[in-house]
Amino acid sequence: MGKGQNKLQKFAEYDSFSNTFSKTDDTKGQWAEIFGNHHPIIVELATGKGDYTLGLARMNPQINYIGIDIKGNRLWKGAKIALDEALHNVRFLRIAIEQIEDHFNPNEVSEFWITFPDPQPHKWHKRLVSGRFLNAYRKVSKSPCLVNIKTDSTLFYQTTLDQIAEDNLTIHQNISDVYALNPVPDFLNIQTFYENIWLAEGKKIKYIQFELGTVVSDETRKPQPSKDKLL
Ligand SMILES: C[S@@+](CC[C@H](N)C(=O)[O-])C[C@H]1O[C@@H](n2cnc3c(N)ncnc32)[C@H](O)[C@@H]1O
Repeated sequence: MGKGQNKLQKFAEYDSFSNTFSKTDDTKGQWAEIFGNHHPIIVELATGKGDYTLGLARMNPQINYIGIDIKGNRLWKGAKIALDEALHNVRFLRIAIEQIEDHFNPNEVSEFWITFPDPQPHKWHKRLVSGRFLNAYRKVSKSPCLVNIKTDSTLFYQTTLDQIAEDNLTIHQNISDVYALNPVPDFLNIQTFYENIWLAEGKKIKYIQFELGTVVSDETRKPQPSKDKLL
């Protein structure tokens, strides 16, 4: 089967799975009903093949996990594994993260993870920790809400620290080399598809956990285009 055909088959299969959702599904405010319980909901943004979502879900059956990504063929992989392992606490949602408010009610999300996001070197506003993204996350989350970032990218790590400083947020953990920890805590010792690539290149893996805080008015923010220019 050609690459394109394989992708189309995965898209079709993705839609047929019982643990998957897409932008046309009405999920806003429905997640407790979908999971059949009121357990806390942790969302992994840009989950790719869902490796981190699956790893955390296996460790914490009393927590519900939703992996979000725009790429259906990648999500297919995570969804298939979750079905094969009968992981009752995992769902996947294929949407652009920019649309998160259309798919979750205020207060529906307890915590976020972002693992190995594209650092978007030329587009500051597209980085998943830029101000407009944090505001979108704030509109669907409980307060307080933790955000966990795992990245190989010094640029993304620094952007996260800059945004935390700009929004005056509280850092709970800031680890510049996760695998120098001894022992590495279980919740940090899950390797994703992209993490394995960067580890093979000898890159250091960084982790930050911070409190999301409340919505910051766009008027009080520094103009973002100048930040793009600086990079
Ligand atoms: C570098 S991959 C990382 C995937 C996974 N977390 C891992 O570590 O293997 C980045 C992922 O982010 C997704 N992504 C980037 N921007 C997005 C957006 N605005 N909305 C939804 N997904 C996005 C891409 O489709 C891609 O799967």
